[in-house]
Amino acid sequence: MPTRAQVSAGLEAVGSVAVRTFAAHQSQRSTHVALSAHQSMDGHHVNAMAGDGSGAPRNHFADYDELPEGHFYDPDAEYEPDPEYAATLAPDAARQRRERVGPTGRPLPYFPIPGPLTQHGPATIIAMCNQKGGVGKTTSTINLGAALAEYGRRVLLVDFDPQGALSVGLGVNPMELDLTVYNLLMERGMAADEVLLKTAVPNMDLLPSNIDLSAAEVQLVSEVARESTLQRALKPLMDDYDYIVIDCQPSLGLLTVNALTAAHKVIVPLECEFFALRGVALLTETIEKVQERLNPELELDGILATMYDSRTVHSREVLARVVEAFDDHVYHTVIGRTVRFPETTVAGEPITTYASNSVGAAAYRQLAREVLARCHAE
Ligand SMILES: Nc1ncnc2c1ncn2[C@@H]1O[C@H](COP(=O)(O)OP(=O)(O)OP(=O)(O)O)[C@@H](O)[C@H]1O
Ligand SMILES: [Mg+2]
Repeated sequence: MPTRAQVSAGLEAVGSVAVRTFAAHQSQRSTHVALSAHQSMDGHHVNAMAGDGSGAPRNHFADYDELPEGHFYDPDAEYEPDPEYAATLAPDAARQRRERVGPTGRPLPYFPIPGPLTQHGPATIIAMCNQKGGVGKTTSTINLGAALAEYGRRVLLVDFDPQGALSVGLGVNPMELDLTVYNLLMERGMAADEVLLKTAVPNMDLLPSNIDLSAAEVQLVSEVARESTLQRALKPLMDDYDYIVIDCQPSLGLLTVNALTAAHKVIVPLECEFFALRGVALLTETIEKVQERLNPELELDGILATMYDSRTVHSREVLARVVEAFDDHVYHTVIGRTVRFPETTVAGEPITTYASNSVGAAAYRQLAREVLARCHAE
């Protein structure tokens, strides 16, 4: 039997999140086996609640550890800390372990790894929308898109913000572009193929944008059926993709209304900080108006808590209030705060390729699985 120090050292080496090898996952998919921290030393199944040797609990999302090659985050792994370590956990930790309560305080379901598709399309369009700035819309668009693409879905990302942050985040210099989503919107007869860019991620394409798009907001005002301009522009692309994700700008102006009119579902990223819920009423009202007047198919798929830090009471309280307000609309998946995300913007690629084994990449993979599970549940 290894000593506690040896166990801690072994777990330290693989990070603090629940991981197991892909091969082990494949063979154990149907039989769920809970292994103890000691058993996990065989490298096949690593415990979720690893300590850092100091006895202090380490949380899932807030650290920056890498997962080792061949491992990925597994929300299905069960907690089984050693008794000495368990004594340092919160009073309800035992219940949390037993019921596998996720960060939102609800039992965490298992989201299966999606099977391959034999045919593609028609696309489900998702608008990533919140008029509040800096809440993780662009980060979520890139990384949800990349994770869906990893699971074999054909994905188109639409940069619908004149700041072009999505394009930059995928390594495109918006200033150098001759044709952007603006041309697709405003010029009749413009083919989407001329504007589309392939990204470095297989299965994922981009409709880029730059500052030109800000003119569209004004020019569209005098157009006939101005709110459905994007919908018309995307129509010819529907059969080529499984998911189209639109990165909205931080406003509820005409561009965002266009995104909502084109979309089937809305994802609302919410930063876990005090003013998170401010303005959400206005957003849900806008969604309802678009639903009533322009797009009856539109529905709120989910609220995504971002930049969550489980170490702070503040983050936990905000998340609890968000769950209180939106209940089942809140995704079980919560995105932790990590410096890895700003780094990926500089690198110009999604976290799933930039730091494939990081906790942030794992979180967006889980989100992709949750989004797919919600789509299939309908
Ligand atoms: N989970 C996270 N942890 C830490 N930093 C993050 C996280 N998600 C996003 N960020 C960083 O926060 C900043 C804002 O994120 P992002 O650009 O995705 O927000 P946004 O809602 O698209 O902003 P805007 O409203 O300006 O378009 C970026 O610098 C990004 O790298
Ligand atoms: Mg943005």
